[in-house]
Amino acid sequence: MALPASEADTIPRLNLSRLVKRLGDKLVVNGIDLAVDPGECVVLLGPSGCGKTTTLRMVAGFIDPDEGEIHIEGRLTAGRGASIPTERRQLGMVFQSYAVWPHKSVFDNIAFGLKVAGHDRDTVKRKVHQVLELVQLGALAGRFPGELSGGQQQRVALARAVVMEPNLLLFDEPLSNLDAGLREELRGELQRLHADKGITMLYVTHDQQEALALADRIAVMNAGRIEQFDSPEAVYRRPRSRFVANFVGTANLLEGRIVAKDGNASRLGIEIDDCGTFLAKANRDFISSSRIGDRAAIVIRPEDLDLAPEGSGFAVTIKEVTFLGDCYEVSLEAAGKRLRARTRRRPAARDAKVVATPDPETIWAVP
Ligand SMILES: Nc1ncnc2c1ncn2[C@@H]1O[C@H](COP(=O)(O)OP(=O)(O)O)[C@@H](O)[C@H]1O
Ligand SMILES: [Mg+2]
Repeated sequence: MALPASEADTIPRLNLSRLVKRLGDKLVVNGIDLAVDPGECVVLLGPSGCGKTTTLRMVAGFIDPDEGEIHIEGRLTAGRGASIPTERRQLGMVFQSYAVWPHKSVFDNIAFGLKVAGHDRDTVKRKVHQVLELVQLGALAGRFPGELSGGQQQRVALARAVVMEPNLLLFDEPLSNLDAGLREELRGELQRLHADKGITMLYVTHDQQEALALADRIAVMNAGRIEQFDSPEAVYRRPRSRFVANFVGTANLLEGRIVAKDGNASRLGIEIDDCGTFLAKANRDFISSSRIGDRAAIVIRPEDLDLAPEGSGFAVTIKEVTFLGDCYEVSLEAAGKRLRARTRRRPAARDAKVVATPDPETIWAVP
């Protein structure tokens, strides 16, 4: 039954609740809650083996969850005895392998689904050409996949999914077979497609750059669970755990103890052995549940660590300097700990003793 527009807008396009999947004797997906809003791009980001593909396969309907529920547009799709078949979920899918038909032309690859759905010839032609323009394959409609590069084949796969105007496009590491240049180009294409067409996407990757670039929200997965579901900025600047801090971007994690809570409980004082005490921002729930003496770590991003001959920070020794074109990456040692800094200015030479000062506004504490 169709819902009034205003009501339909408030229903997540996809909703996963308490999703569980065991494979063999392994709990591969261990209680996942996730909502994807209409027009949103949600990225499932996590290391290999954390359960991303398994989650996507449950959404696609290739496997059923052992526990929990999947709703698509508010409709129970899997769980509690329901199991709507894949072809009735109105999904588009793009996977790592291009999965285009080698014996069909580009046009026919894209037209196939429309023909099966019973569209007339003119409609098929119009829709295929529209989507070919969208993925910049307009000139290649008559070619066969064997005559195309990997990047072009992946565009065909993308066009084939998009042309069906799915409720939700599922991606599983679609760029990982492409070399760096093509990967960036196609990533730009996906961003444009998402922005211009408002296509709703659930996108799986282990590549944090891809996740940060594409996502409206990122779900960081670890061992079958979502550790944080937040905007790219929040995941990067305000990680909820050490795992998230380490997995998204490069983090200096310094282990210490909580020695103070400030008056209105918006910061924690954390003492790091041989480096001093730092005032760190943290999530409110962490601050309120923490106690003086608890272990905690501070997160300092390499670009937030300033190096100078002297100052109010802590003493470090420069171990290595790597010129990366747009910045210098500096490996440091402080009280037996390895740290990294990134700086536009050329740092002092190897073995120099300097002072490292974190930008006080960016120091972040994790439990
Ligand atoms: N059919 C299966 N039987 C047993 N274990 C499986 C099966 N498929 C996947 N797994 C295991 O489940 C875990 C998660 O796999 P997967 O969802 O593919 O992770 P990801 O996509 O995040 O790399 C891995 O440890 C994998 O070895
Ligand atoms: Mg996978």
